[in-house]
Amino acid sequence: MPKIKIEGGHKLTGTVTVSGAKNSVVALIPAAILCDETVTISNVPNITDVDDLENILVHLNAKINREDGKVEINSSDIVNKEITESLSKKLRASYYFMGALLGKFNKVDMYFPGGCAIGARPINLHLKGFELLGAKITEEDNHFIIEADKLKGNNIYLDFPSVGATINIMLAAVKAKGKTIIDNAAQEPEIVNIATFLNNMGAKIKGAGTSTITITGVKYLHSCFHEVIPDRIEAGTYLIIGALLGHNLKIDNMIPNHLEALIAKLTEAGVGMEIGLDNVIINEVKDYKSIEVKTLVYPGFPTDLQQVMTTFLTQCKGKSTVEETIYENRFQNIKELKKMGAKANIRKDNRKATIKGKTELHSADVIATDLRGGASLLVAALVAEGTSTIDNIAYILRGYDRIVEKLTQVGAKIEII
Ligand code: UD1
Repeated sequence: MPKIKIEGGHKLTGTVTVSGAKNSVVALIPAAILCDETVTISNVPNITDVDDLENILVHLNAKINREDGKVEINSSDIVNKEITESLSKKLRASYYFMGALLGKFNKVDMYFPGGCAIGARPINLHLKGFELLGAKITEEDNHFIIEADKLKGNNIYLDFPSVGATINIMLAAVKAKGKTIIDNAAQEPEIVNIATFLNNMGAKIKGAGTSTITITGVKYLHSCFHEVIPDRIEAGTYLIIGALLGHNLKIDNMIPNHLEALIAKLTEAGVGMEIGLDNVIINEVKDYKSIEVKTLVYPGFPTDLQQVMTTFLTQCKGKSTVEETIYENRFQNIKELKKMGAKANIRKDNRKATIKGKTELHSADVIATDLRGGASLLVAALVAEGTSTIDNIAYILRGYDRIVEKLTQVGAKIEII
């Protein structure tokens, strides 16, 4: 099994260009099948989650052509058959085929999705939305058949502003008869990106990016060209790396507005940044102050940056805290960080960690426990004295486009072995 080997302690200089957003593209690809004409998506990151979605499209007989960050999809000959368990559980975002196939054929047959084990990740809100649109759900041993005679718009209130449920309901409702209103919808930038894509194809979606989204069903969706927005979690990861090791490190092709919470917390700790329109230049400062971080839905501090932020906090002087309000089990990386010298404690209920700094991190052989947890170890290894290895790197490659190449370009000593 390949590992990542990192010799820590090198300063990073130059430019890192941020790729297209994982959490956007993994919804755009399933959304594309709602259209019978060819759609083109650009700025597609080279991550294994996209490979896994491509395999599902091929399984369904859609035509997909992928090169140089561009994907063309034609679903005119698609066959609506069962998406097997092995394909469904490869990734979390396979669940978007539920909304997309239901919206296109009024029926979907697939299994519970996969994804990182960071706590219970039910899909009850997705299913509740489908039911309110008129679908009947048969569930047995992780296998779902969701079907409707006819989908009809309805008012849907989400008990929690779930990203996945909001997008899935949009996909199912886009061709349903009449009007659907999603209340307490998620407001993440990826939701806006998907709604814009669907509107470019002729859908009628209003309010994406607010807590109320209105979808007026249309009969036909036509071809379009669409660009994936920059990945705010990838950009945030490089900002944190820059705060620890940057020497005029420029993070380019990002949207600073999408990272206001992270930028505010880094500023509070004492990080100096030059914020441009689509880039941030960042320099390492020696002494950072301890801070308190609490994850929240957008525009709050993103849970997907919580683990990488924990590594940053090991370098802040004093007692910092991280509170996780979205997931039940997202501190698994801390056990591994401790092998590198981090001083951290997790509260009994697994919802809050205390990190004492500043710690001189040292090299260790560690194991990525999940995608963002893997990234937190990678950042620690970049800082640590000596040579570290990270095992289970498949997690990291699911979500970070060409991470080894990007870091090498700015001076890191990192390789896959
Ligand atoms: C998406 C992102 C993930 C990010 C998360 C929160 C993708 C592919 N993944 O995940 O990277 O961490 O948003 O920003 O875009 N919940 C329920 N019932 C549901 C749905 C969700 O109880 O039907 C709960 C979950 O267990 C979790 C919380 O709501 O505690 C957030 O989930 P959600 O926003 O749906 O996240 P995902 O779509 O899974």
